This record gives sequence, C-alpha cells and structure tokens, in this order.
Amino acid sequence: MRGTDAQKLSVDFCGLPFATPLVLLSGCVGFGEEYTRIAGFSNSDVGAVCLKGTTLSPRLGNRPHRIAETPAGMLNAIGLQNPGADHVVSRILPQLDFGETRFIANVSGSTVEEYVEVTRRFEDSPIDAIEINISCPNVKEGGVAFGNDPDMSARVVAACRAVTGKPLVTKLSPNQTDIAENARRCIEAGTDAFAVINTLMGMAIDIETRTPVIGNNQGGLSGPAIKPVALLKVHQVYQVCRDRGIPIIGQGGITSAADAIEFLIAGASAVGVGTALFYDPLLCRDINAGILDYLDRHGLDSVAALTGSLRLHGGADACGG
Ligand SMILES: Cc1cc2nc3c(=O)[nH]c(=O)nc-3n(C[C@H](O)[C@H](O)[C@H](O)COP(=O)(O)O)c2cc1C
Repeated sequence: MRGTDAQKLSVDFCGLPFATPLVLLSGCVGFGEEYTRIAGFSNSDVGAVCLKGTTLSPRLGNRPHRIAETPAGMLNAIGLQNPGADHVVSRILPQLDFGETRFIANVSGSTVEEYVEVTRRFEDSPIDAIEINISCPNVKEGGVAFGNDPDMSARVVAACRAVTGKPLVTKLSPNQTDIAENARRCIEAGTDAFAVINTLMGMAIDIETRTPVIGNNQGGLSGPAIKPVALLKVHQVYQVCRDRGIPIIGQGGITSAADAIEFLIAGASAVGVGTALFYDPLLCRDINAGILDYLDRHGLDSVAALTGSLRLHGGADACGG
C-alpha cells in the first residue's frame, strides 16, 4: 500500500492507531491466530482483531447444533466456548503478533463480579483494549439479560471501568427498546467506545421433527440479513456519541466496501467484519481497496471525514408503513 493510501485508511480509535478501519469480530476469528493459517490472509490488513468471548472459568459451550444457515445470514448459539481468562492471558496472548495489529479482548460473565475479574486479568496483560459483551444472546445469565437493562448495563460498565485504564468498548444489544438511552447510561458509567450491534435473537425449526434446529433452541442472527437493523442502531447510538467524541465500531452484515462505507456514513469510526469471513476469509483486502477508491472518487483524504456524514431527508417520520 502506498504511504498516502495507508494514511487515508488509518484511524485513531480511543488513542489506538488502527492501520485500517476494519475490525475482525469476536467469535468469528478464534483467538486471533486462526485465520493466519490461511494463505493470503494477514492480520495486518485490519485495524484490530477482537478475540473470542472470554469468561473467568473455561466453558464448553452449548450442545449441538450450534450454527444454522438462514436466508442471508446464520444463527449461532456457541455458548461462549473458551478456555478461561487465565489461559487466554498466559498461553494465547504471548503467541499473538502485536506488531501486526491491535488486539481487543472480549469479556463476558454471569455476574458483575465475573466481568470485573476477567477485565482485571486483561488489565495486567499486553491487550490493547477491552470489549465488554453485555449482549450475548446465547448464555442463560449475564450477556443480553444485562445488556437489555440500562441500569445493569451501566453497573457492569462502571464496575469494569474501575479496574481498567485500557480503552473500554461496550458491545450493545439490538434486542432492546431504546438503544440510545442505554448508550447514554454507558457513557455516564465510563465507556470509551461502543460496538454496535451484537446478534439479533432468532430461531429456526425443523418441520419434520418439530424441534428447533439449534440445540440451544434459539440463537443469534448475524450476516447480511441484519444489516438494515444494524445501520439504524448505529445511527441512533451516534446521536448520543457525536458531541462526546465516543467512537463506534459499526457491525452487522458487512460483506463489501459499500456496506462498510454505509456504516461509516451512519456514524461509525471503525467497522467490523464477522460472518462474511466464513465464506471469504480474504475479504478485508477488497474492502480496504474499495474504501480507498471511494475516498479518492469523493475527494476525501481520510476515513474520519466519512464518519457521521449522513444527510437525512427533512420531514421524515418514524413510521415505516
Ligand atoms: C459464530 C459466532 C460467534 C460469536 N461469538 C461472539 C462472542 O463470543 N462475543 C461477542 O461479543 N460477539 C460474538 N459474536 C457476534 C459478532 O462478533 C458480531 O457482533 C455479529 O455477528 C454481527 O456481525 P456480522 O453480521 O458481521 O457477523 C459471534 C458471532 C458469530 C457468528
């Protein structure tokens, strides 16, 4: 990449230098090493990599089936399978190449105390930032049960804030009535940034057996099917972030440069790629090239110039019917 192109693509995210606005999303790239085995793939093509959701103790995850393809997306109910925070910090982080990209931990828990303990483990590690997942739909306690309640969301954020000086990214759930109000409470509680959105709750049914396809009965819907929902949520959260300088990692169904640009225009400072990697692990180079081409065609010299540049139509009302 030419020097000027690298400059145009680079993003300052909470003081962290991202080489490009792209972020590989939690749960879609293992613990950061998985895709590096694929010929032509490099973590240096992205600004940051989010590691798989991590809890205090190891978790085996949910019974199968854990994933199912849906029209324009997939359902998953992995159930936060992970080897536990101590293993991640002592065994996995030392294997990662921090010269290639920034690494973001993804923290989960069943109680506020567990979120705090896992955050504490990562605070004493080389990890670049900490994402708190208060929006996982696939666990019985914590996760989305916290993230859909603004009081609980704020409690988790404040408790984690108290034990880390690293950039704190709060991952918001789309499965709630007023995401902007929740975001406002999380900002008051000390979050530095947001990830918007996690998966939408969904179900698929096997009509021959009349049972849910997913072993957990329900799962999280991701992929292109959720993109319009995700764009609106980013736009709504941006309204409370704009004047406070809080950046958003926009995500949900991004498969192309055009998708990524839509999220930037809606208010994202960086954009996540998750489900799309399952069918094209080398997608990020094309998205970077497409963003550069768009910046050149529109006479813009930085990704930041696109953030929140949406021009709304006047006189629109909230009713879609
Ligand atoms: C198989 C799978 C596992 C996931 N695991 C996690 C996780 O552990 N923690 C988390 O915060 N999000 C998790 N997610 C949600 C993604 O990080 C992302 O927010 C969501 O899938 C929307 O983006 P996408 O449509 O580009 O995949 C997972 C998604 C998938 C498909």
